[in-house]
Amino acid sequence: MNLVVVGLGYVGLPLAVSAAKSGHIVSGYDINKEKILDLNAGQCFIPEISMEELIKLQSKGQISFISELVKKSEKTIYVIAVPTPLDIDKNPDLTLLKKACESVARVVVDDCLIINESTSYIGTLRNLIKPIIDNQSKLSTLKYAVAPERIDPGNKKWFIKNTPRLISGITDEAKKEAVVFYEQFCDEIHEVSTPEVAEAAKLFENSFRQVNIALVNELAQIADKLNFSTHEAIMAAATKPFGFMPFYPSIGVGGHCIPVDPSYLSYSAELAGVDAKFIKLANQVNSYMPKIITQRVKDYLGGDLTGKQVQIAGISYKPDISDLRESPALDLIKELETAGAKVSWHDPIVREYKGEKSVALSTEIDLGLIVTPHSQIDFNIWKKTNIKVLDLSANSNNYGWPKFL
Ligand SMILES: NC(=O)c1ccc[n+]([C@@H]2O[C@H](COP(=O)([O-])OP(=O)(O)OC[C@H]3O[C@@H](n4cnc5c(N)ncnc54)[C@H](O)[C@@H]3O)[C@@H](O)[C@H]2O)c1
Repeated sequence: MNLVVVGLGYVGLPLAVSAAKSGHIVSGYDINKEKILDLNAGQCFIPEISMEELIKLQSKGQISFISELVKKSEKTIYVIAVPTPLDIDKNPDLTLLKKACESVARVVVDDCLIINESTSYIGTLRNLIKPIIDNQSKLSTLKYAVAPERIDPGNKKWFIKNTPRLISGITDEAKKEAVVFYEQFCDEIHEVSTPEVAEAAKLFENSFRQVNIALVNELAQIADKLNFSTHEAIMAAATKPFGFMPFYPSIGVGGHCIPVDPSYLSYSAELAGVDAKFIKLANQVNSYMPKIITQRVKDYLGGDLTGKQVQIAGISYKPDISDLRESPALDLIKELETAGAKVSWHDPIVREYKGEKSVALSTEIDLGLIVTPHSQIDFNIWKKTNIKVLDLSANSNNYGWPKFL
């Protein structure tokens, strides 16, 4: 099949490569011209995709990267994977999704299948994507399916192939065609009855994480005041063989999914006249964590941060990923600076943020904070000295969170 992937980010690019490897002829389209130039030169920002692999697929004609969509005369599958962020009021901002639909509408021909992988509120495929493309293309034979992406960038165990794929379509025919397409590179397909079920499942699974992380972050605050170990309590609770799943405290949630998707669910709730109190509260608890940590840092350093040198190790939202979107480390930097601290950061993967460059781990500081422990960071320089270092990272080994190294 001819396949066009619209949006070549953390979701679209791995999909384009997987589909090309399974034999489809893939055009990867992105409005970011620089990205297209890089990809055409074999350069890729996703560590799991190698330069050799990309160049090989391009030279075999399996994949090409374009910054202009062209009309194909034959039947084509269009997969849309563009950002769906929140606006300043934390409401869905579907500007890019609408723009992507308009671009597709200009080039589709009869019988094409359009699949949405972007995360959005319940009803997006039926009430937004289909009307835009049908009206602007003036075609009535287009098929629409949804296959929400669940990828966890950097996860070495779960990737496109082995993560079960949810699929539905506006018609049975659309769903069937989408299933045939995904079966070629996904091991397990789970069909659901309507696009709305697939959209809701995607939002619910990320809201589940957001809510449970908020709950454990609240437990960490209780543990601090009552002087017991959060981790010991979590591990003790986890000995229950049913009805419990451990989550670990952190400075908050980041990335394009966990801090964002729950707001798409609460937006859907609002449209339906339901006040999704729980989701809003979880957002608040997690967003407040950088303030709580700043207060703790203040306490550790004698109650005043003015002029204190604090260094943060790892500022992206999770280890071994360069993505800074919604990273709570950035809020922590702001909070510490507002409290008067002089903050520097070390991140070998991010290297530059807002014109500021990563600096080497230093021992000329009052406090080191481990926020995102990328595997490339060598903490020996901190371990060997007697400067104070606080480990804030969220993982099962961080027993006694937050703990001094
Ligand atoms: N990042 C994740 O871990 C993840 C996981 C599951 C689902 N999702 C969802 O997938 C969608 C895409 O996320 P992402 O992380 O891949 O985003 P991204 O920012 O990494 O990449 C999106 C790409 O789309 C391009 N783009 C934007 N508007 C476009 C348009 N109109 N036409 C063509 N290209 C366009 C951008 O230039 C960018 O390269 C979002 O809805 C997100 O919520 C993301």
